[in-house]
Amino acid sequence: MAQKLIAPSVLAADFANLQRDIEMVNKSGADWFHIDIMDGVFVPNISFGMPVLEAIKKHAEKTIDVHLMIVDPDRYIQTFAALGADNLTVHYEACTHLHRTLQAIKAQGMKAGVALNPHTSVRLLEDVINDIDLVCIMSVNPGFGGQSFIEHTYKKVADLRGIITRNNASTLIEIDGGVSTANAGKLVDAGADVLVAGSFVFKSKTPEETIQELKSIANG
Ligand code: DX5
Ligand code: ZN
Repeated sequence: MAQKLIAPSVLAADFANLQRDIEMVNKSGADWFHIDIMDGVFVPNISFGMPVLEAIKKHAEKTIDVHLMIVDPDRYIQTFAALGADNLTVHYEACTHLHRTLQAIKAQGMKAGVALNPHTSVRLLEDVINDIDLVCIMSVNPGFGGQSFIEHTYKKVADLRGIITRNNASTLIEIDGGVSTANAGKLVDAGADVLVAGSFVFKSKTPEETIQELKSIANG
């Protein structure tokens, strides 16, 4: 079995001490930096944009996993490639021509991800699953950190695992929102590969140990 990955979400970091928090993640057992970009249109919140990602990139020594919660993401594919994103995830609900968007992301040398809002069925990806490197199943409504985990997510993970297996695809399943040690084991058992965790990591008194706990549970 491949290693299960932990992706701390920088949205929950202390922005006044961003370098410190990034170096904590560098030293920790975490695998990816999860970067939430929100435009105040696709989601009812604005997070941060290019200058902050540029600053993060200067210090980050791990995979940069960018989650775009923006309308018309095609406009920014080249920009995020130039900023050093390794994975670029767009929302299913924000793409009229998803297949074309995925090809454009890959043409820029990035891994292509698709995020699904809680109401969006994983079955909608069946016809395009072999073109997707990563599916991000939202286990909260996107827009804010610190929300509670939606229990229906387990079923979506298991259904998506079935679709990936049936199509002989190598797509990774990422879970985003309300992830903690309380649900990490069950998510991995259902078929998850990557766990994003924001508040649970950064609001913990010992974030590095918290990352390690998640990692051990996920790889238990
Ligand atoms: C929500 C973001 C998440 C968020 C997760 O819109 O996409 O990545 O930062 O935060 P927690 O782990 O606090 O739910
Ligand atoms: Zn996210």
